[in-house]
Amino acid sequence: MPGRLEGKVAIVTGGGGGFGKGIAQKFVEEGAKVIIADFVEEVGKKSAEELGCEFHRTDVSKREDWESIKKFVDEKFGRLDVVINNAGTTYRNKPTNDVTDEDFDKVFAVNVKAIYYSANVLVPYIQDKKNQASFVTIASTAGIRPRPGLTWYNASKAAVINASRTMGVEYAKDKIRFNTVCPVVGLGTGLSDFFLGKPENEKTFLATVPMGRGCTPKDVANTCAFLASDEAEFLTGVDIPVDGGRCV
Ligand SMILES: NC(=O)c1ccc[n+]([C@@H]2O[C@H](COP(=O)([O-])OP(=O)(O)OC[C@H]3O[C@@H](n4cnc5c(N)ncnc54)[C@H](O)[C@@H]3O)[C@@H](O)[C@H]2O)c1
Repeated sequence: MPGRLEGKVAIVTGGGGGFGKGIAQKFVEEGAKVIIADFVEEVGKKSAEELGCEFHRTDVSKREDWESIKKFVDEKFGRLDVVINNAGTTYRNKPTNDVTDEDFDKVFAVNVKAIYYSANVLVPYIQDKKNQASFVTIASTAGIRPRPGLTWYNASKAAVINASRTMGVEYAKDKIRFNTVCPVVGLGTGLSDFFLGKPENEKTFLATVPMGRGCTPKDVANTCAFLASDEAEFLTGVDIPVDGGRCV
């Protein structure tokens, strides 16, 4: 039986590790041709070799890197069906008075401006090709149900949830869909410790998740696979919490 993403060409940003690697793995299993776009060459290349997919060094906060991956995808595959905007960053949970300009600028460059670049560079390309496509941004429960100590991270995720909904409506006529996946804190990925602040906060936080655990790369990957597949052809502008009931 063909995979649910058979023949689709998919970019997965931040696919070198964490949730992104889980998404790349699931997409390969479902038959997609995957390009891992990560700015850490060593990690991204290693994951791509392991999973049997492509790697293109990309810093998502730079327009020229989006132009470069567009060229790479066009020369290699001649089409693009899915963009998973997963790469993200944060500062360590701390009082909002202690946030620096550098913290703020980094969070907005990687979590927000990169999503703008992805659409600004790739939507016209997809419109020219006239194929249906799906953008999925990994936002966070932080963008729906914010917690103290992460004000500007929370705001960056709320911004992309809103932008994704807006573009979902605007590009519906082109059948280019925009959705977000909103995970609760994951355990063991690169950013998890930064969200929790201190390792001893893990138990207290997990007690607030009705299903009693953190989010895994598999949870995120399965949701992305559905949203990227034709099974979700009538879904646009939605935000799916992957959170064991935390946001209810
Ligand atoms: N881990 C969590 O608890 C959690 C919870 C909710 C949402 N999220 C979101 O999920 C996404 C992935 O988080 P994770 O914990 O798996 O992260 P991670 O740090 O484990 O992996 C992120 C990957 O993105 C890459 N990356 C970072 N900045 C980049 C840039 N500028 N250009 C290209 N690649 C870049 C890193 O090299 C890394 O391979 C992020 O958007 C994050 O905000 C994470």
